[in-house]
Amino acid sequence: MAEMEFEPLGPTILVHVELPQAKNQEDLEELHRLAESAGAEICDAIVCRRDGIDPRTYIGSGKVVEVADAVRAHEAEVVVFNSPLSPAQERNLEKEIGVRVMDRIALILVIFAMRARTYEGKLQVELAQLRYEQARLVRGWTHLERQKGGFGLRGGPGETQIELDRRALRERIAAIKEDLEVVARRREQNRAQRKKNAIPVVSFVGYTNAGKSTLFNRLTQSEVYAADQLFATLDPTLRNMVLPTIGKIVFADTVGFIRHLPHELVAAFRATLEETVQSDLLLHIIDIADPRIEDNIEAVNAVLAQIKADSVPSLLVFNKSDLKDDVSIGIVRDETGKPVRVNVSAKTGAGLEDLLQAVSELLTLDQCEFELKLSHSDGKLRSLLYELKAIASQSYDEEGYEHLEVKLKPSDAARLNKLSAGRLAACLYNFQGKGVPWQQEEEFDFVDID
Ligand code: GTP
Repeated sequence: MAEMEFEPLGPTILVHVELPQAKNQEDLEELHRLAESAGAEICDAIVCRRDGIDPRTYIGSGKVVEVADAVRAHEAEVVVFNSPLSPAQERNLEKEIGVRVMDRIALILVIFAMRARTYEGKLQVELAQLRYEQARLVRGWTHLERQKGGFGLRGGPGETQIELDRRALRERIAAIKEDLEVVARRREQNRAQRKKNAIPVVSFVGYTNAGKSTLFNRLTQSEVYAADQLFATLDPTLRNMVLPTIGKIVFADTVGFIRHLPHELVAAFRATLEETVQSDLLLHIIDIADPRIEDNIEAVNAVLAQIKADSVPSLLVFNKSDLKDDVSIGIVRDETGKPVRVNVSAKTGAGLEDLLQAVSELLTLDQCEFELKLSHSDGKLRSLLYELKAIASQSYDEEGYEHLEVKLKPSDAARLNKLSAGRLAACLYNFQGKGVPWQQEEEFDFVDID
């Protein structure tokens, strides 16, 4: 795929419309930060209060003049609306204002496009852009040919417009889907392998800018891109780590969540989010210094529910503790002693040992314990148990049999039994005359969110 280049948005005017049924009102401050993430230099933010939407221009002709005046005064190149615009409204506004007009979804797509780093991420963004543009084909197709400027960043109406080509668009969409399927299959194979080896996956989720990448880097000493911008992380980044009591685990850094994540994007980032749904534990990273902490937690929980990941066990990680005087670093537990929150600072590294301790505890919380008696011919089972760090103690009897105290998660025990062709269950039965203390593994199907 040709590498696309993206230029920052440049001088930008924001338009925020307040309607009486302001229930799902997008947040102007968030739009500000989103636009800045896309490199916009915000010249002005115009707020309109309306009783209803003007079908032609959304804001009505008087306000359009006001916006056009502001554009001229500031020599702005882009106008970003905080509300979804219909293709016709966008076209009418561009005609009357004279510069590029985009809505919040288009802006988020620009940011995603700028941040996409892996091949899969780039394909996902391009697909989302093409689908978004499909609805807007009426005004001319420019994306395929554009090398510089990228999606939503054309110099102005008419400047780079080419003849509409629906077939080219359909073909490109089909080609991307095919490529994505290949990548998704490979990802699925990797995931299946991890599952087979019973390697737990711990995913980082959190409101954008909470510090996920910084924490991820600190913990895994990797060099994932971390920047003070929204959506610095787009692709899931996986890293192996070895925890003393658990063995190998995989940490997954995921896309930053935002309020009202557009459905199109949830669908586009399906593969990314799938990692989250199928995790053994979620680390919900929270910026403790953000005054909207409660709202941010709620926004993340809403997205988790939307992608059906709300039943995955989670641990709250209050990050940026260095910015607060009244926070003590460490694990906060509930009345049963289970870790529910850890206060850390990804910046200074404070609390990271506690975090790993809490992760270890939570990953082993529902372990079952049993004793096994192995003979010399059980080498494979023995090595699998060692690999999983499942052996709590070991001794030999006079006859040379090995006695093991084993601690395993029920799902791992079921998998191990399968891997050892039923030998785990057989050893247990032969020794104790009892059935297995675990349930057969449930197959996990990803829920379709399209
Ligand atoms: P997205 O990828 O946009 O979702 O962001 P993210 O959650 O991955 O955040 P990132 O790691 O990029 O951090 C955002 C900003 O917060 C950066 O400027 C970090 O330097 C800063 N930051 C992260 N952790 C800490 C911390 O513990 N203390 C302080 N003071 N700043 C932090």
